[in-house]
Amino acid sequence: MRIEATENGPYLVETGGKYRVNGEERTGKKVALCRCGHSGQKPFCDGSHKTVGFKAPAVSIELS
Ligand code: FES
Repeated sequence: MRIEATENGPYLVETGGKYRVNGEERTGKKVALCRCGHSGQKPFCDGSHKTVGFKAPAVSIELS
C-alpha cells in the first residue's frame, strides 16, 4: 500500500481498484483524503485546501 501526501494538498491512497466507505463499495484507483481540515466532504478532499492556502510538504509512504 502506498500513501502519498501531495505538496500543499491531500493524501492520495492507492486502492487497487475497489474500496469501501461505510460498507459501500466504490471504484477508483486512488482516493484523496483531506489533510488540511477544511473539506466539506470529510474525510475526502473537495479542493478546499487551495482556497485556504494550505501549505505542507510532499511525502511518500510505502507500507509493506
Ligand atoms: S486537503 Fe483538500 S480539502 Fe483538505
